[in-house]
Amino acid sequence: MIKFSEDKLKEVQAMIDRYPEGKQKSALIPLLHLAQDEFGGWLSPETMDYVASLLHIEPIEVYEVATFYSMYNLKPVGKHVFEVCHTGPCMLRGSDDIISYIRQKLDINVGETTADGMFTLKTVECLGACGYAPMMQLGMHYKEHLTPEKVDAIINACRNN
Ligand code: FES
Repeated sequence: MIKFSEDKLKEVQAMIDRYPEGKQKSALIPLLHLAQDEFGGWLSPETMDYVASLLHIEPIEVYEVATFYSMYNLKPVGKHVFEVCHTGPCMLRGSDDIISYIRQKLDINVGETTADGMFTLKTVECLGACGYAPMMQLGMHYKEHLTPEKVDAIINACRNN
């Protein structure tokens, strides 16, 4: 059974305490981030049910949010997750070609993870960095003005990390 450590439970309580009495559901988004970080990089049904129990809300209320935002992973992901923006401005600047290049280079399709568990490829909607298109998010960082050469360098850096 999954459970946060005592230290993490204190963080959870601090998140809940930011909101007025009875509005504990407002802590759902940061709590899901914490849960995803703590429990293997993705949100299993068990994890989402646990989060619901911590907030005293129904599991469906957690599923609704977790399935809406692309930053939550609903199945296991690789060590490095490439979230490539494919919204209009990035598409006009060649995101389709970048996505194809990554697919071919890693031999996976969008939504898949490499057999060695190193990389997952996702496509996401606008990440607010349209001026740097085409771009992707990799962990806490944005990788901008992507080209095949830059993708090669990113993959190599990940492999050596
Ligand atoms: S369209 Fe890609 S960051 Fe906005």
